[in-house]
Amino acid sequence: MKKISIPPLVITLIIVVLSGLVVGLLLYINNQPAPTRGVSPLVIIDAMEPDSEKWGINFPNQYSALLKTKSNDIRTSFGGSQKVDKLAVDPMLVDLFAGYAFSKAYDEDRGHLWALEDVRETLRLNDTTPATCYSCKSSNNPSLWAEMGMAAYDAMKFSEMTPKITQPIGCANCHEANTMRLIVTNPALEEALLAQGKDWKTFTRQEMRSVVCANCHVEYYFKGDGKYLTLPWAGGTTIEEIEKYYDDVAFTDWTHPDSGAAMIKMQHPDFELFSAGSTHYNAGVSCADCHMPYTRDGAAKFSNHDVKSPLIDPSASCGTCHTDVEYVVGRVGVIQQQVNTTMLNTERAIVDAIKAIKLAGEQPGADSALLEEARRLHRSAQLRWDFLAAENSMGFHNPEEALRILATATDYARQAQTKAVQAMAPVSTASK
Ligand code: HEC
Ligand code: HEC
Ligand code: HEC
Ligand code: HEC
Repeated sequence: MKKISIPPLVITLIIVVLSGLVVGLLLYINNQPAPTRGVSPLVIIDAMEPDSEKWGINFPNQYSALLKTKSNDIRTSFGGSQKVDKLAVDPMLVDLFAGYAFSKAYDEDRGHLWALEDVRETLRLNDTTPATCYSCKSSNNPSLWAEMGMAAYDAMKFSEMTPKITQPIGCANCHEANTMRLIVTNPALEEALLAQGKDWKTFTRQEMRSVVCANCHVEYYFKGDGKYLTLPWAGGTTIEEIEKYYDDVAFTDWTHPDSGAAMIKMQHPDFELFSAGSTHYNAGVSCADCHMPYTRDGAAKFSNHDVKSPLIDPSASCGTCHTDVEYVVGRVGVIQQQVNTTMLNTERAIVDAIKAIKLAGEQPGADSALLEEARRLHRSAQLRWDFLAAENSMGFHNPEEALRILATATDYARQAQTKAVQAMAPVSTASK
């Protein structure tokens, strides 16, 4: 056989071209390709453009669906878009949040376009409220963060920031202009992911369909005097890891006036609960699959940007994967009822613990070490319960994890109550 000799330069060239193709292909798979459109964009959008109406010129379907989040008014058993007063529905919340603003005002969430009005009119605001409270409410934020840096933003007062915030949640909170890539826009999320050694720029498109919601639907706190927006994720995102983080940095939101415990208020940890090994998360289902299902308008197929409860149109939200929509919706009802019953039992246990600790605390000569233990248990019980109470799906996002956490919370609360009773015991025998 005749040997064909290929010059080394050609071989090198072939290798270079082939590996270039492989790298290109990998990048194409890992990074989301820009959505292709039949027609080229009508207008070029400025980077981080806050005004969704301008983006809407290119994408009228997505824009008009976003507008619908303002007019949704359907209430479901445990969710929906009405501004229900949670304190009136469940008066135990007033005792649980005593001494904190959430005992004065706590409403059910509603559509994205309401974010600005709702934060501005809440009774929880006062003169010292930091600008940080605007972090999840407005499409002005990405450009403001880029201009001034998040530290300077967070150091301002809410009222000082108000004139700069003119838009509710919009396109710039989730998309990069023109490429329309889904992006992490909140610096606190980027920092929290980096603290775990994760770079969102390497995430797949399907991962980003959930991570984009984590720009806001996560637990966070305001760090230090600068009220720097921080996600307590450095050690992980389960409730135990979050509790450890807060214990290690000795953070507390407020001191409970009745029990004297150092408390943590949880904020909507939808992403953390969902991603803690739920069936859907493990199966690779994303937030957008259920909350932004594909929809059709004539020939156009697009993601429904009217983000709301999936129970309002379950055939669109669940029907893409489940053939028996009625059955799975029935399961939601059963799960939510069970989680709600368990949650109310947990609340009763915590309220009992608070009363017992208060009583013991008022008694001269009560055992202070036991009282301290009871207060620690109150903190641990309530931050677990609140992880579920502040999460928005009444446990559906991860039923097993919800019930596991509530069971531990009830146990800690009853232990706290027992410790408080024990703390009083020596005094009551002595006084006989
Ligand atoms: C498998 C489907 C599914 C996935 C995936 C999913 N959700 Fe949900 N979500 C639901 C259902 C069902 C409810 C309960 C709605 C109700 O009670 O009306 C809900 C409720 C909510 C609510 C409250 C809605 C309301 O009407 O008050 C928010 C907010 C939410 N989910 C955010 C998220 C986020 C963020 C993610 C991803 C981290 C996510 N969801 C993933 C199905 C899903
Ligand atoms: C809360 C986050 C969020 C907001 C706000 C948002 N989008 Fe999206 N958008 C998404 C998600 C998630 C997808 C699905 C992307 C994917 O599958 O790659 C998407 C997809 C798109 C797409 C690709 C086609 C499609 O519909 O799937 C376009 C175009 C788009 N959005 C335009 C807009 C415009 C214009 C606005 C403002 C009027 C906007 N989006 C606001 C999250 C958002
Ligand atoms: C920029 C911050 C931000 C981003 C990003 C965001 N949300 Fe929200 N979301 C909010 C706020 C704030 C509210 C509550 C608004 C109110 O009650 O005034 C809300 C409300 C909701 C509701 C309740 C709507 C209703 O009608 O009751 C759902 C469901 C929801 N978000 C799901 C999602 C999903 C899914 C994603 C990702 C695709 C997402 N959100 C991304 C901030 C955000
Ligand atoms: C993108 C696909 C997808 C969507 C959308 C989806 N699911 Fe699922 N769901 C799955 C997969 C995959 C499983 C895992 C079990 C299986 O293979 O059937 C599952 C399992 C379930 C289960 C059984 C849970 C368990 O622990 O065994 C229920 C209940 C359920 N889904 C309800 C819903 C509801 C309600 C909706 C709409 C709000 C919904 N799903 C939307 C893919 C989906």
